[in-house]
Amino acid sequence: MTGIWHDDAAGAWLVEMRSTAYAFGLADDGTALRHLHWGAPVARAALADLAAAAAEPMPRQERRLLGKTGERPDEYVPWGGLRYDEPSLRAEFGDGTRSVEWRFAGHRVSRQGPATTLEVDLADTGHPLRVTLAYRAYDGFDVLDRWATLRHAGDGPPVVIGQAHSANWWLPPGGGWRLRYLHGGWGGETQLAQTHLTPGKFVLESRRGLTSQQLNPWFTLDQEEAAATEEAGEVWSGALAWSGSWKLVFEANPGGRVHACGGVNDFDWAYRLEPGDELVLPRFAGLYTAGGFGAASREWHAWQLAHVLGRGDDRSRLSAHVPPPSFRTAPRTDPASPDRPARGEPALRPVLYNSWEATTFDVTEAGQARLAELAARLGIECFVVDDGWFGQRNNDRAGLGDWTPSREKFPRGLRPLIGRVNDLGMRFGLWVEPEMVNPDSDLYRAHPDWVYHFDGRTRSLQRNQLVLNLARPDVAQWMLATLDRLLTENHIEFVKWDMNRPLSEPGWPAQAGIDPERVWTDHVGNLYAVIDALRAAHPGVEFESCASGGGRVDLGILRRVEQVWTSDNTDAWDRVKIQEGFTQAYPAQAMMAWVTDSPNFLTGRELPLSFRFHVAMAGALGVGGDLLRWSDAELAEAAELIAAYKGIRPVIQRGRLYRLASVLRGPFGASQYVAGDDVVLLGWWGPEPCAARPARIRLAGLDADTRYRDVGSGERHWGSALMAEGLALPEEKASTFGSTLVHLVRD
Ligand code: DGJ
Repeated sequence: MTGIWHDDAAGAWLVEMRSTAYAFGLADDGTALRHLHWGAPVARAALADLAAAAAEPMPRQERRLLGKTGERPDEYVPWGGLRYDEPSLRAEFGDGTRSVEWRFAGHRVSRQGPATTLEVDLADTGHPLRVTLAYRAYDGFDVLDRWATLRHAGDGPPVVIGQAHSANWWLPPGGGWRLRYLHGGWGGETQLAQTHLTPGKFVLESRRGLTSQQLNPWFTLDQEEAAATEEAGEVWSGALAWSGSWKLVFEANPGGRVHACGGVNDFDWAYRLEPGDELVLPRFAGLYTAGGFGAASREWHAWQLAHVLGRGDDRSRLSAHVPPPSFRTAPRTDPASPDRPARGEPALRPVLYNSWEATTFDVTEAGQARLAELAARLGIECFVVDDGWFGQRNNDRAGLGDWTPSREKFPRGLRPLIGRVNDLGMRFGLWVEPEMVNPDSDLYRAHPDWVYHFDGRTRSLQRNQLVLNLARPDVAQWMLATLDRLLTENHIEFVKWDMNRPLSEPGWPAQAGIDPERVWTDHVGNLYAVIDALRAAHPGVEFESCASGGGRVDLGILRRVEQVWTSDNTDAWDRVKIQEGFTQAYPAQAMMAWVTDSPNFLTGRELPLSFRFHVAMAGALGVGGDLLRWSDAELAEAAELIAAYKGIRPVIQRGRLYRLASVLRGPFGASQYVAGDDVVLLGWWGPEPCAARPARIRLAGLDADTRYRDVGSGERHWGSALMAEGLALPEEKASTFGSTLVHLVRD
């Protein structure tokens, strides 16, 4: 049972989660907070001993001699005194003091539905800065959600924050740490990488103003000697909830002790806290498991389904037509408010059609209606019109910013098409890219000062577009009003929110001198505020996050959307690898995957329709091909496969995922999903000779003493046999690129 145990005499706290524990305690007469434990359960009676060992008196000046940083790990490292670990917090006060010295100032434990939160207050001993460290544990989970809140608690000059991490995670003593993380680029997101941490710092970051395709704010750490595998071994993992520039630092001190810390990126960033101001930093969640990388992923998936996906902001303080407040005055999270689901359990994702690969910018009412008719025949549930429907948007050189339907393409507006789509039994969805503007647009002609820029400097174009300065309240207000009008005037039930370039020249000349570097965080704070306000005003609308594919995927945006666009690369064989990386951190339900045309537009690779479907079925299924060019036989096969997907959809989208075989290690990849009585196996093999293919695959996570019936063949197998000897894979006739789908039910 999740709970927070406080040993008053020892001055220590123990966070008890489903099957793991986390502990820290006071030291040095309440002027320091020491990390004590993160890992396997700890008896409450043992907490005092742990705390005593960490709080052994040691003369202040000698405490950190000989470079023994990390031996008395600071739970959250304030820069000040003899501290040389990567700081969690750097602050400068009005009198020029650039160090933090604090004292414990109290703690609180509160309960929010299925979650328990501990808050620990620390007050600077000579300056008006208060820091609250928050720890939230969730019933039935091993995820610990952490964040910090900074407050200017006096009057007088501002406190300038130069670095402010959300949390600092210490790993147990001992060397030989392996770090795994996700990297990539356009068309190749979420590739799994690993490195060995040696003394020094290893930094993962984005300086682009959005999460980025290059690196994703998620990691695992394990010790090489114990070498975790997919299904066994100790794994520590973390994920940051921030969709702007972020930074994770992994520091191994000379003794081999490692800590992982991070939050908003301090690069080109500073935040001036005025009296009364409060800065609530993004959440940084972590988990420990002894069950290997597979168990770590399953824990992330289940927790995100229960507490993150589409949950929205905790505070229902906004409504449409109210200017979204800035990051400063509107903390995105409120430790005191319940972490309640905004919209109940996440609904199963509808099977979606998206027009992008079929029509690109050549979007017309008649053309989309023709596609919609075919989509409906396939059993598609949501029809999404992508880029090209608005303003003068006939290519990527014009129109962004002018969010009214093109008069030439939609002379009667969007409503007739939406009506047709609805009559066909489908929801209607629309693409937008609200943070962007083309110089060739009415919006830019009216407001050239609304984009990030420095006076007299180049305004760098990428994809012929500039980034709107969303840190400006008037831009945020315009965005909210524009999208609110679009959703109010049209029966739109799904919004694909794209962002196709990073920030550059992050200047706001009119505001020069007043916290210019805050734009990095204010942009994201206002993005969140606009989406939160739209979700509150239009509860029937679902959202997808996209940034040239999977460039904005993180726990912060996932609170505000139902799903993400995984990659613009829809080649199913490339997708097997991209999806394998994605599922390390994020759940299948959020992973949008389309079946598109063959040969693929990007790679030219030809793949069977069933293969393309079996790969896309591993997530939230969509179709993105030009259906007008599909034969009747292909349309009929697609309809059958979509019907089959609907039958297994709850198992895929809500089940426990076992990555049985990896295409990173062999010619064959397979994922198994288990939910209730149902088991689904999806397998894919690539361009290897037949001989390289396995004949059987061992399943996982079944009841050994139960018999399972293969829904397709009617054959029955004992769970024990399926896990020990495996399931026979079909003999494929094709020489390359085969796939299989097996559905078993408890007999
Ligand atoms: C990038 C997205 O990733 C694509 O799916 C598509 O929406 C285009 N933008 C449209 O410009």
